Amino acid sequence: MRIASRLCLMIIGLTLTAPSIAAQDPLKKAIKARQGEMQLRAFNVGPLFGMAKGQIDYDAEMAKKLAGNLKLLLDLDNGRAWAQGSDIDNYMGDTTALPKIWTTYPEISEYGKKYAIAVNELAAEAGNGVDALKSKIGPVGNSCKGCHDDFREKQ
Ligand code: HEC
Repeated sequence: MRIASRLCLMIIGLTLTAPSIAAQDPLKKAIKARQGEMQLRAFNVGPLFGMAKGQIDYDAEMAKKLAGNLKLLLDLDNGRAWAQGSDIDNYMGDTTALPKIWTTYPEISEYGKKYAIAVNELAAEAGNGVDALKSKIGPVGNSCKGCHDDFREKQ
């Protein structure tokens, strides 16, 4: 009886601690934070691609706002979210970030710089008509893709 209840308590203990340990893992939090930032990029850039392709009507105010949001995100100093060890080898299933990000560092920052230049140019022009938007959206898309091709597990 005693053994049975001890075992029972142990099992309860295990089920209680396992999820809380996972929730406290700072590297998992970091992964979630950077993925959240990426989701915000995608959420804001999506309609801009749509407008440039003619899939949705061009709206100058909206285009300006969305490109401005991408620019605002550049100001976020989210370096903590790229903590060493939070790569796919250690966190398979949680992240698509390749270890190469850290082993070749600071190579990825060059990609980040190109992205920042493209976003700044887009933000300056996105509200000035669909042709202006079209002329500046390409380099943004290419810099998203370029970085994903080299630093992210193939989807
Ligand atoms: C300098 C490199 C770089 C640039 C530029 C970049 N990304 Fe990413 N992106 C990554 C990496 C690395 C990951 C994998 C993150 C992870 O899973 O931990 C990622 C993941 C993502 C994800 C998946 C997030 C999730 O929830 O798993 C989306 C969506 C995304 N990026 C969108 C974009 C868009 C849109 C752009 C351009 C507007 C962009 N990214 C620009 C490196 C970059």
